[in-house]
Amino acid sequence: MNTPRFASPQGRWQSLDPTRVWTESLAHTVESLMSLARAQKEHAYCPYSRFRVGAAVQMGGKIFGGSNVENASYGATMCAERTAIFSGAAAGARWIEILALSTDVPPGSRLEARSPCGMCRQVISEFADEGTLIVVDAGEEDGALYVGEIIPWAMLLPWSFRLKG
Ligand code: THU
Repeated sequence: MNTPRFASPQGRWQSLDPTRVWTESLAHTVESLMSLARAQKEHAYCPYSRFRVGAAVQMGGKIFGGSNVENASYGATMCAERTAIFSGAAAGARWIEILALSTDVPPGSRLEARSPCGMCRQVISEFADEGTLIVVDAGEEDGALYVGEIIPWAMLLPWSFRLKG
């Protein structure tokens, strides 16, 4: 899953979607969403896990940020991705174009340590289609060529549950 198959012309991202036509405007969107996702970690409320997560989603052309918000009754915790998506949905947006996600795991960590949890994948799927992209921060390292993976939605949750046919 971590093997790059197609790199952006800018060389800053590795895309796991070889079919995607890469444009300057897509690169710009990806980079600005990732910088918001990284900034959102500042607002993470995670006194229990101390694991900060920031997310930024472009839904219906608008951008929404989210952070993980934990709770003393641990199960009431909300992930950063869902915080961002629910903000978008509550503002009337119904389609996720791109979702970017950032954690504090050290650069080089495996994708499983950095990508959305199962519940978030199911929530993403409610508003995703074959054009939806998930961008996962790989952590910035001096001199590193790539700072994240761009993953087509279908790779993250094939056969996700849907009520409609
Ligand atoms: N967390 C997220 O925000 N997103 C995920 O996809 C995985 C986990 C949060 C929940 C909790 O606050 C902390 O990370 C540790 O699980």
